[in-house]
Amino acid sequence: MNKRRMGPCVTFFPQPTTLISSLDAEGELNLMTASWAGIVSKTPPTMAVSLHRGRKTYQNIRERGEFVVNMVPASLAVAADYCGIRSGTDVDKASHCQLHPEEADIVAVPLLAESPLNLECRLAQEVELGDYRLLLGHIVEVHATEEAFDGDGHIDTVSFDPLVYLGGIREYWNLGEKQADAYSAGKQLVATENAAGRR
Ligand SMILES: Cc1cc2nc3c(=O)[nH]c(=O)nc-3n(C[C@H](O)[C@H](O)[C@H](O)COP(=O)(O)O)c2cc1C
Repeated sequence: MNKRRMGPCVTFFPQPTTLISSLDAEGELNLMTASWAGIVSKTPPTMAVSLHRGRKTYQNIRERGEFVVNMVPASLAVAADYCGIRSGTDVDKASHCQLHPEEADIVAVPLLAESPLNLECRLAQEVELGDYRLLLGHIVEVHATEEAFDGDGHIDTVSFDPLVYLGGIREYWNLGEKQADAYSAGKQLVATENAAGRR
């Protein structure tokens, strides 16, 4: 593969598109789009989000110690982009986008009703990264839309229809075709390890 050097930059994809819910000191809901977010530990279940220290969302999370990470379905692409270009300091983004809060179980911060997958998080740790702050939140509850489950409790991924963000290219895509089963497809190469003489 012939490659072009791009230098140190943040071009990397796919990334998730999430809307982070937070509450300010007055109890007002704010929604912020974040793609620098992901699961970073299973025990304890932990979500990491990286926020610029100037975001209202960062101030809210510092103040309350809680946040909710809401997965964004493709149908909310325009609203998610809006919540990524406007600050809650200036506008009530949830009302303007006609997005609705839904009571969470453990934290005081509401879930986003229109999102099919919501993770309630409690701030556990903060790491300074220049102007950014990596916030590690313990996941205290997860809500997934009932519609996605079949009778056997299996999840139909397609019904979540996650909005994928291509960082650096600044484009949103939806999910393509399933390619393989994880922790399974690679086994065919495990089976041929000895034949290939690799030890
Ligand atoms: C697709 C997309 C992804 C973004 N991801 C992040 C992110 O991970 N971290 C961050 O600090 N800002 C991110 N932003 C920018 C914030 O969403 C934006 O500054 C927003 O206005 C902050 O809102 P707030 O001040 O109400 O918290 C992203 C914006 C877009 C459009």
